[in-house]
Amino acid sequence: MKKVFIVANWKSNKTESEAKDWLSQVSSLRDQDLLNKEIIVCPSFVHLSAMKTFIEEQKLPIKLGVQNISPFGEGAYTGEINSKQIKGFVDFVIIGHSERRKNFGETDEMLFQKFKLAKEAGLNVIFCVQGKEIKVPEDANIIAYEPINAIGTGNPDTPENAENVGVYFKANSQVSRVLYGGSVTAANVSGFTQMPNIDGILVGGASLDPLEFLQISKNA
Ligand code: PGA
Repeated sequence: MKKVFIVANWKSNKTESEAKDWLSQVSSLRDQDLLNKEIIVCPSFVHLSAMKTFIEEQKLPIKLGVQNISPFGEGAYTGEINSKQIKGFVDFVIIGHSERRKNFGETDEMLFQKFKLAKEAGLNVIFCVQGKEIKVPEDANIIAYEPINAIGTGNPDTPENAENVGVYFKANSQVSRVLYGGSVTAANVSGFTQMPNIDGILVGGASLDPLEFLQISKNA
């Protein structure tokens, strides 16, 4: 049976107390709900330390990820957080999200550089693609297919289209795991995770509500 990745992308949301409250509510997730599932939460950088401590203390079956990393290593790059710094907190990093490509002018070249640094630091990269035309680094093995018009709109792509994109990348690259993202909810998640070549989901808006997220995790 395949392992389903359930990734929460909180984007730029939640204060520290809201983050802790979310974790407390989600802490009812126990191993029996999570057979063959991997839960990965990607909060803002500022929450990583407190969330890591909470997860370890409560022994929660949750891994942490970040939504971005610096395209540079250590050094004089004011305001940046590099992959070596991140490695102490998380196992995963999302690279190439369409909001970063659009709002922060991130180019393929910059994203490939981030990918390289993340891999060198030993992080697992979830590389986002918005369609079949997007270039992925040669050794990328996890991607998230996130069509732009499905993100935050309440209009998800169809599971069949997502499957088709998954098949395409698995046939034409080193990619072995394909997640779908874009308006995933507890009501539609199983349509995606039932597809043979969809290995999980990346959830934005619906992941902010702990009860909805619990339900998504159970239904996935
Ligand atoms: P959404 O966002 O679930 O709010 O559509 C998904 C994403 O951008 O990762």
